[in-house]
Amino acid sequence: MNNFQFCSPTEFVFGRGTENEAGAYVKKHGGSKVLLHYGGGSAVRSGLLDRVKASLTAAGIRFAELGGVKPNPRDTLVYEGIELCRSEGIDFILAVGGGSVIDSSKAIAAGVPYDGDFWDFYSGKARIAAALPVGTVLTIAAAGSEGSGDSVVTKEADGLKRGTGSDLIRPRFSILDPELTCTLPAYQTACGATDIMAHVFERYFTNTKEVEITDRLCEAVLLTMIRETPRVIAQPDNYDARANIMWAGTVAHTNIVGVGREQDWNSHGIEHELSALYDCAHGAGLAVIMPAWMEFVCSHDVMRFAQAAVRVWGCQMNFAQPEETAREGIRRFRSFLHSIGMPVNFAELGAKEADIPKLVETFGIGGGRTGGFVALSAADITEIYRIAAHAAL
Ligand code: NZQ
Ligand code: ZN
Repeated sequence: MNNFQFCSPTEFVFGRGTENEAGAYVKKHGGSKVLLHYGGGSAVRSGLLDRVKASLTAAGIRFAELGGVKPNPRDTLVYEGIELCRSEGIDFILAVGGGSVIDSSKAIAAGVPYDGDFWDFYSGKARIAAALPVGTVLTIAAAGSEGSGDSVVTKEADGLKRGTGSDLIRPRFSILDPELTCTLPAYQTACGATDIMAHVFERYFTNTKEVEITDRLCEAVLLTMIRETPRVIAQPDNYDARANIMWAGTVAHTNIVGVGREQDWNSHGIEHELSALYDCAHGAGLAVIMPAWMEFVCSHDVMRFAQAAVRVWGCQMNFAQPEETAREGIRRFRSFLHSIGMPVNFAELGAKEADIPKLVETFGIGGGRTGGFVALSAADITEIYRIAAHAAL
């Protein structure tokens, strides 16, 4: 196991009705004037936003509002949020929504005290040195942004989707009420489940040896997702299954399952080009990319893929031909994703094979993520997109 430093300062508040305590938690974490940031309408329609506002008022917290965050959040709204926070004297940002709302909130939080363009943090020009505190009321189990130090934003004019990371933008608190996720359409539930599993796999496929504890934690999250996702697709109101998925989503991405081991993240980088170009859901893009990436890199460490196949997918180990076992595990992953309604190839995602050179080029502009489990060249990335384009069950 490698040396590591792990900071997870977020206070998690979990369970039914906890969104009604949002105001009290803002107060506890030092907020007095809040930017209430939310998405395209689900939180309004469900009545959640009104409940959160009532709890802020009850706690004596003043607030300004900024809704309209789109999935794959845009820089344009971030600029608007930064201006609003400055003009209103905001000292705390409360995100009510999913990863997109939370990431937009983190970008605003980092942008307010910064003299330059907040995009500097995403283009790699500057590192975050200060940020307003952020709290969240999570409405979808997926990105894990409620417990992560990451934020991913799209620069609309250039079609670039890029991330930044700092412990300074980890939420101070996150309210996780599984009941709030019962209104999710099955497709969004499945996209979220795919993202959660991808966050674990990005960490599972490692070159670091002797990492039994994190291997086993990863496997626990994956097995939970394999059991619970079909249950919530069949019964959207199943609180217990929703609860297990919600906590799995947070555990998958605070990095507790990834400490002390080299990680990969190439599938995420390769996927971000798809959601930047086609504005598809991040989880759906991962459903197409991650099995393709696995097929491409499998021979790098067949025994690690065989381990996943046996422990996670219940395959029988073929000791004479371990690569058979490894590849059977990848097949079962793809078929699981298909069974929960995820796309299998470019056509099902709405992507075009003809765009592959453009996707590879934009990946390169961002500096790419070519380290990790297997360092990838532009030709390798082209091949992964090609496998994804033609994949079948
Ligand atoms: O905008 P509204 O109306 O709220 O609708 C949203 C949106 O259309 C809807 N939704 C959310 N909660 C709902 C609901 N609909 C009904 N009932 C509810 N309770 O779901 C749609 C998707 O929401 P979004 O926030 O985009 O989903 P997600 O949490 O998957 O976030 C995706 C974004 O996070 C980034 C992704 O790249 C993508 O931009 N990621 C962020 C990470 C991080 N910060 O650590 C890591 C991830 O790997 C990921 O890259
Ligand atoms: Zn992700």
